Amino acid sequence: MCGIVGYNGKEKAVDILLDGLSKLEYRGYDSAGVAIRDNKKEIEIYKSKGKLLNLKDKIKDKKLNGTCGIGHTRWATHGEPNETNAHPHTSNDGNVTLVHNGIIENYQELTQKLKRHDYKLYSETDTEVLTNLIDYYYKKYKMGPIDAINRTMVRVRGSYAIAVMFREYPNEIWVARKDSPMIIGLDKNGTYLASDVPAILKYTKNVYYIDNMELACLKKDSVSFYDLNGDEINKELKEIKWDVSSAEKEGYEHFMIKEINEEDEVVKKTLNSLIKDNQIDLSQTGLTIEEIKKFKQIYIVACGSAYHVGICAQYILEDLTRIPVRVEIASEFRYRKPILDKNGLVIIISQSGETADSLAALREAKDQGIKTLSIVNVVGSSIARESDHVLYTLAGPEIAVATTKAFSTQLIACYSLAIEFAKVKNKINKKEYKELIDELQLIPDKIKTILDNVTEEIQRFSSKFSHIKDAFYIGRGLDYAISLEGSLKLKEVSYIHTEAYAAGELKHGTISLIEDNTLVIGIATQEEIFEKTISNLVEVKSRGAYVLVVTPEGKDVKKVANATFYIPETNKYFYPSLTVIPLQLIGYYMAVSKGLDVDKPRNLAKSVTVE
Ligand code: AGP
Repeated sequence: MCGIVGYNGKEKAVDILLDGLSKLEYRGYDSAGVAIRDNKKEIEIYKSKGKLLNLKDKIKDKKLNGTCGIGHTRWATHGEPNETNAHPHTSNDGNVTLVHNGIIENYQELTQKLKRHDYKLYSETDTEVLTNLIDYYYKKYKMGPIDAINRTMVRVRGSYAIAVMFREYPNEIWVARKDSPMIIGLDKNGTYLASDVPAILKYTKNVYYIDNMELACLKKDSVSFYDLNGDEINKELKEIKWDVSSAEKEGYEHFMIKEINEEDEVVKKTLNSLIKDNQIDLSQTGLTIEEIKKFKQIYIVACGSAYHVGICAQYILEDLTRIPVRVEIASEFRYRKPILDKNGLVIIISQSGETADSLAALREAKDQGIKTLSIVNVVGSSIARESDHVLYTLAGPEIAVATTKAFSTQLIACYSLAIEFAKVKNKINKKEYKELIDELQLIPDKIKTILDNVTEEIQRFSSKFSHIKDAFYIGRGLDYAISLEGSLKLKEVSYIHTEAYAAGELKHGTISLIEDNTLVIGIATQEEIFEKTISNLVEVKSRGAYVLVVTPEGKDVKKVANATFYIPETNKYFYPSLTVIPLQLIGYYMAVSKGLDVDKPRNLAKSVTVE
């Protein structure tokens, strides 16, 4: 999952490329490179290993005045992170220069083909094979860039978003995509391409969405699109609703803490888009009451944190609507040949809308003729465009690799679906419906209260415990569901080994790992099973654990807790929206006190666009 960017216009390309790459570094940051030219055939290429900073250092004294260029920040899949494997790659004689995001699955077979035609390969990458294959077709058929790229698209298997410069076409950048994301921007200063919105938001909000197996030519003042037959196609210029500041840190030390502090706002925005005159309004999805009535089974399919939202949603949906819900990990669902109920609804949850496994799961459901609804944060993303119905969360661009605000808006989307489905299925009466909506609209202020009241305490707690090697999160019901997310948050940004367990499961084995001062974080909000959770915490406490409890104000947990973070009371279904805030803050402050790169944790990327 790399980040690619490109510019062709009047301005110096290098500044726009480096700025764009800095906004895409959350997609991959083990090496980077740029290729720049100016109305001439010659292309200057600079690459470096490691973070973008190294590349900036390398070219800071270079006179790069070119107004046309492409750039890349890498998350290595084929070939270790080093300068040779970094992009851009060029064909043997420099005729083709290319950056790529994605994976070419049949690159070994193509390598043999190219070697039979005397091509030499100097890197370990699938991308260099792609570059030379385009050159091969360009020279063989002499039909220009469109033909060469189209023949290559027919020949390769895998996922790609590519930006290509041909020596003989000095004022043009060619792009094509299949499954990997790309948007194309246009304004009075030129044309832009990028893997994601934040990279070009500073320059333009006017974008084109290029579809799968399409290509485009970016000139200095226009963009033309072509299909696989080489015929020109029309595209509509769309306006992005996000503002530039949302892609900046705005004085915060990290995007993660900035995005955590935006949660009350974005939850309110998402709620306002789903509640009209005190009624849940799902009209944006296009789902009809008749369709909702027909649903006999719901499948929620996602990855990582989005999957954890699914687990929370399962408890609420089943309890409110009495429709059976199965929650599936997308990378398993796509290959398990799942048996799906024809009257089912498959819900795909994805912040980026580009996660490869979730996209494939969506296609699996569609191939089986099952209705699909996606809950997505990025307008125009692949999952949004390919779903039958879409519910957009309004978290705005989420830059930190560890999701926080998008997670909270996805919870709101699931609550809204559950309440409306329950009403349509007559599982709740008017009074219950109104009470749920009234309480839902209090969530943003309750999140704000937690951010204002508990942050400092968590900062102190985290600096005391950031040396630990292991931690356990336990809870029952919805508290178990949210402890999964708490565990992932700490793991992914602080590199501390954590496990989340259904509290009742611990004594079936894992409790043997509990010893003096083992940190156990207990989530206890669910009234019906509160005492059960407390007795499980007593079990670990009696084996020496240091017990931190997250629980509603007024709850007496003194007998078991070494430390407690209180949250405001709310309806039992909505506690994940409140308990997740302290859990996200623990992850953040533990990582900060370990001096780690919180926004770009090692080995991770924001949008996992490969399998
Ligand atoms: C969460 O912090 C991670 N970034 C990761 O688990 C993420 O939730 C997962 O990759 C799914 O991403 P998506 O929501 O963009 O599909």
